[in-house]
Parts: sequence; C-alpha cells; structure tokens
Amino acid sequence: MKKNGIITFHGPKFIFFGRGASERIPRGTAVVSPSVYAHFMEAIQNIDGNPVLFSRAAPTGEPGEDDVLKLAAILKDRISAAPKLPVAAIGGGSVIDAVKLALCMASCPGLTFEEIYSGGIPAEAFCRPSLIAAETTAGTGTAVTAVAVVTKKDNVKRGIVSPLLIPDEAYYDPCFIDVLPKEVFASSAMDALTHAIEAYVSTIENEPADTMSLRAAELLAKSVLDGYQGSSAARARAHCGNMMAGQAFSNARLGLCHALAHSIGARFGLAHGRLNAILLPAVIDYNYPSAGKKYDRIYASLDLPGGSLPEYIRGLNSKTGIGNSLSFLGAAFKAIIDDIAAEAAASSLMAVNPRPADNAKIAEFLRKIST
Ligand SMILES: [Fe+2]
Repeated sequence: MKKNGIITFHGPKFIFFGRGASERIPRGTAVVSPSVYAHFMEAIQNIDGNPVLFSRAAPTGEPGEDDVLKLAAILKDRISAAPKLPVAAIGGGSVIDAVKLALCMASCPGLTFEEIYSGGIPAEAFCRPSLIAAETTAGTGTAVTAVAVVTKKDNVKRGIVSPLLIPDEAYYDPCFIDVLPKEVFASSAMDALTHAIEAYVSTIENEPADTMSLRAAELLAKSVLDGYQGSSAARARAHCGNMMAGQAFSNARLGLCHALAHSIGARFGLAHGRLNAILLPAVIDYNYPSAGKKYDRIYASLDLPGGSLPEYIRGLNSKTGIGNSLSFLGAAFKAIIDDIAAEAAASSLMAVNPRPADNAKIAEFLRKIST
C-alpha cells in the first residue's frame, strides 16, 4: 500500500521454501487436514504426537463460522496447557484460514464474529502463540497473507484482513504438492495465477508487489500444464509462484475476478480455483481497456509467438479439464446473473480493480460464459 508517498509491504517473519523445508517446522500444536495427515503421518507426528484433524462441515470452500468456533475451543485448551508452544496449520486454504481466526479467538475469550466483522481483530490477539502455516496446495497463498476468508451463516463469504492474521513463519515444501490429484493441482494453481494477475493490475502502486506478481504470473502460467501432467519440477515452480502471488495480493489486493468468484462460489458451493480460472479470461477482456499494457506485459513474459493472455488462459483451462463455461450451473445461475453482477460491483475489491464496475457489461459477459 502507498500512503503519503510511503509504500509498505508486509509478510511473515520467515518463509522457508524448498524440498525438506517442512522438516524445520518446530514442535507444537499441529492442525492438519485429514488428507494431508494420511499422506504425511510420520512427519506430522514429529511436530505433534496428537494433531488436531480439521475438516469443515461443507464439502468445499472456506471454513464456516461454526468450524472456526469449534476449532477455537480446542485451541484454547491446547494453549492453556502449553502457552509457549507454536500452533502450526498444515493444509490448504480452509485449514490455514480457520487456524488464523481460531487462534485469535482462542486468545481473546468471548470475542465474537460480529465483533470481528464490525471492529476487526482486536489488539488483545497480539498475545496469541506463534502462528506457523505450511501450505499444501498450489493455490491460496494464505500462509503469507494478512487475510482469512470465512463463510458466514447466511452463506456470504467474508474476507477479514489484519496484520494479526499474518503467520509468523510460512513453509512451502513442494513435497506436499507432489501428491495432489492433478485436478486439485490445476485448480489451485489457476487460483494462484489469478492472484498474481489481479495483484499486478490492481490500482495500488506497490513496486515490490508488482515485481513479485509479474514473476509469479510467469512461473505459474508456464508451469500449470506440465504440473497437471505430473512434472514434479513444474509443481515446485508453481508452488513458488503461489507463494509470491500470495505476498503480492496481500499487499496490492484482488479485483473483479475474485469479487465474482466469491459471490458465485458462496451460492453454488463451487471450488474457488476452478471458478476463478473460468472467469479470468472474461475479466481480462472486460478490464483490458484500462489495463491492457499490464496484461500484455504478463503475456510477453511467456515469450510465445502471437496469441494473447486470455486466449492462453482459455487454452490452459481446456487442457486441464477446467473448461471455459459456467453452463453447468444451468438456469439457476442465469436467473441471478444481474444480482451477481450487482453484488460484485458493490464488493470492496472493486476499489482497486483497474476498470470501474459497469453492471450491465459484467452481466453481459457472465451471460456469454453461462451458455
Ligand atoms: Fe483466490
């Protein structure tokens, strides 16, 4: 962010990246997704002999308020038994976001979601134990961001931003990415690519974030296909891009694509990364009159003859089975397109989108990709 000519750039105190990095996670309380635990049981037990297995009530998407409250009660007991030990969140975005919020709530007895929504995370949460995050998908970047997303009881997604949500240490070990099913790898990497692109074209001036987002976009765009086909080296590059894209968007924010993905995803329970991937080319086309040079610069970094960025992304979507249409949402989606366009236009994310919201034009491109 740039205020009065001063740029600030935040992030974790330490980021550990590379094969074997997760072996450095210190002992403490581990909160882990069951699928990650099944693959890495011995390694997780070296961190915590009795880890907390976390899974949200909904099959996909962000953690719900009740998921977080349940976890906060467990962490409160763990913290009172061992107040100096760190808490490590090991998993995808839902596990890490749930731990970020639950740890703050466990450290501020009585704190409610309503208080967080109206006043943010209170300063009392500074007394929370050290927060460690190891990201096990290629997509959310949440181990390095100041953001946590929760699904409210009315099914609306809510992003919460606070420096207290930035993990103290972040771990990006490609060993976690190697075991991802190819569909999960592709959709999470496309989410990270969306982070990089939206941060790069954001109206927030932030040179470090711009530099990271441009390089992240290049790494991700070049690695998605090979990673989908099983290349371990490509998956490691995508994970590095994911980490940089996370830092970039935590400092430069996101835009229209995420505003739409949040609105549609909350209503239809779709995988966030897949939704962003399908929406992204149409959003680039919409924003192009205001940010064409930046999109062209990203595409130039791929060093390909001819073509364009949206065309390239549509190609990735086709080749990874994500597809380029929302037609599978059927008539129920078509009936609420105007509402979704209006909701996205009113999102706080639009404050930094390069082109202001034009509800009719947004609804128009949503209609096109829903047929
Ligand atoms: Fe995302």
